[in-house]
Amino acid sequence: MPTARTLKRPELIADNPDEHLAAFARDVAAGLTAHPKCLSCCYFYDHQGSLLFEEICQLEEYYLTRAEREILLARAAEIAALFPGEIALVELGSGSATKTRILIEAFLRQRGALRYVPVDISRTMLEESTLALRDEYPELEIVAVAAEYTQGLRHLAAESARPKLVLWLGSNIGNFDRPEAARFLRQVRETMAPCDRLLVGVDLRKEAVVLERAYDDARGVTAQFNLNLLARINREMGGHFDLAMFRHRALYDEEMGRVEMYLDSLVDQQVRIDRLGLEVSFAAGEPIHTENSYKYSGEEIQALARSAGVRIERQWFDGARRFSVNLLAPE
Ligand code: TRP
Repeated sequence: MPTARTLKRPELIADNPDEHLAAFARDVAAGLTAHPKCLSCCYFYDHQGSLLFEEICQLEEYYLTRAEREILLARAAEIAALFPGEIALVELGSGSATKTRILIEAFLRQRGALRYVPVDISRTMLEESTLALRDEYPELEIVAVAAEYTQGLRHLAAESARPKLVLWLGSNIGNFDRPEAARFLRQVRETMAPCDRLLVGVDLRKEAVVLERAYDDARGVTAQFNLNLLARINREMGGHFDLAMFRHRALYDEEMGRVEMYLDSLVDQQVRIDRLGLEVSFAAGEPIHTENSYKYSGEEIQALARSAGVRIERQWFDGARRFSVNLLAPE
């Protein structure tokens, strides 16, 4: 008789992929006919984009991942000890869940069992990461949700059978502008019971050179990641972008406290996108704005928490004070 335990496939709840493509098409058409042109950053993360982002996280210049990992390694046991009973760990934008393993292991060590609910926009990345987690941690109960943040909120509200710790790592909050970030945090708070907590990684304001290098690395991985937006339009919408005719640019606006990402057209050009029935004209040097990454000071994190109706219960920094991890409680 075989004695090996058969591992259950993790449950996967997915959005309708046709709706996702339709929304992508609508946003591309609107963004490329707007002045100035823009593309929405939530479309970075198809499978290819998610893999490139994993590569970014390993770059020397991209200190964010290492700084956050340093904090989680130092604090995981302390965080797990804050929750005496059974809990669910719900993660927004889980990606490969590499850093999450630090917390998963701390909870499993203290508790022996854990429910993990990762929410991510890339279905294939979610499938890969949850299969790997299942193999590594058979005692982990996994329900994966392939969805955007807004649908993710619905699943957060449904996770109410036991206390939950919501994870929002990687300074993904920085990709919202400040009022949007406060609004989204407030929506998350509304899904939380008094005993629930939210753990948010927030990158800190610092010198422009360090920030601009983090978003424009020497090997050009970040450039590839940004250009993947155009590659995606080519793949999924019959676009005719020549990626060599666009250049990635990252610029830190000190006053706004944000790194702005652009794709600049190198020449005057016209680009057809067959499935949208659209031809887009670019002047030489004309930018497409693709992403902002907001950075926060200590006071700005306080203000954010206040306007979201949450209290900062604990706040930790890495040794070099580049990054913060904030444990938030509903007010
Ligand atoms: N959440 C990431 C961040 O703001 C996203 C990101 C990293 C990114 N590098 C990028 C987005 C380059 C666009 C281009 O740090």
